Amino acid sequence: MRIISVANQKGGCGKTTTAISLSSSLALRGKKVLLIDCDPQAHATIGLNVSPSELEKNIYHVLTPKESGTVGIEDVVQYVKENFDLAPSSVILSALEQDLAGTQGRENRLKDAIQALQTAYDYVLIDCPPSVGLLCINALRACDEVIIPIDMSLFSLRGVAKLVEIILLIQEKLDHEVRPRALITMYDHRTRYSKQVLAKVKETFGANVFESAIRYNIRLRETVDHGLPIGDYDKHAIGYKDYEKLAEEVIRAEEEIHIPGQRIVETALGILQNTEEYIDSVKESEPEEVCTSHLGAGDGAYQCAPSVQEAVAEGFLTETDEHWSDPDPERE
Ligand SMILES: Nc1ncnc2c1ncn2[C@@H]1O[C@H](COP(=O)(O)OP(=O)(O)OP(=O)(O)O)[C@@H](O)[C@H]1O
Ligand SMILES: [Mg+2]
Repeated sequence: MRIISVANQKGGCGKTTTAISLSSSLALRGKKVLLIDCDPQAHATIGLNVSPSELEKNIYHVLTPKESGTVGIEDVVQYVKENFDLAPSSVILSALEQDLAGTQGRENRLKDAIQALQTAYDYVLIDCPPSVGLLCINALRACDEVIIPIDMSLFSLRGVAKLVEIILLIQEKLDHEVRPRALITMYDHRTRYSKQVLAKVKETFGANVFESAIRYNIRLRETVDHGLPIGDYDKHAIGYKDYEKLAEEVIRAEEEIHIPGQRIVETALGILQNTEEYIDSVKESEPEEVCTSHLGAGDGAYQCAPSVQEAVAEGFLTETDEHWSDPDPERE
């Protein structure tokens, strides 16, 4: 069983979209998948057409000591489609941190719950909230691999640095190794800015960035309204094709996940150092003023994509990009 968290404290960088779409593509390839929604926003739950308010129990009841360990993941699982189950969330999950205050082993709650599973899943994916609190730490503690979606922004890289710090801390304090891999999301090949960040991410992550990149695609936004994974909504969407490629790449990596711990630590340290150096080097010219809404959760990244004029003024687009049209041919 491979346990993969999808995490980045940066809001709106594509974590939930990745968690849902990748789960669905893996399930289509015959892999038995459980997606755990570990975010009180419950976007993965809602995005799969499950209504949090209609459920009696959800992942909160599995993790809270108030239920004294009587509820297992199987007691809350919802069937999504063949090979694809969901452990739903709801806003009540935000109370967990308080419930667990001062409790010993509070960072192990999710790990213990996954270990107690009786169902043989090939993949467990965990959709993390946009923060590095106890829920994210539980997810990192429970998983062996973490996919870090990076939209084309410095805030995303900042999120990476924070996350990698925590991965290192978990390695040091809890002796638990987690392999980080970056995934480019919302990629727009027409802007110089996207290209710059892509080059930086490739340099920073080396072999630890997925070859598959997820392009900006309006269909991925629409799927949420329909409560469907992209493949069940529009099989011709470029977003679907990109996640299909990612699923193949994830499956291919099945043979090479047993990386010696020392290399994981070195990788994480390298990523941290490179990312911090890069952030320092662009402090003067970073697009923070343009993109203050990045800091918010949810649709933050989407809303704050700089307008063409702003981006040109900030020097993120080349002269020829000035006549930039829609990067997504499917946008209406
Ligand atoms: N490749 C893409 N192209 C266009 N829109 C996208 C893409 N990926 C995600 N989106 C849209 O961007 C928004 C944020 O995506 P998503 O919810 O997956 O991010 P998130 O990281 O899970 O956010 P949060 O931090 O709030 O949990 C959503 O409206 C989603 O539909
Ligand atoms: Mg999310």
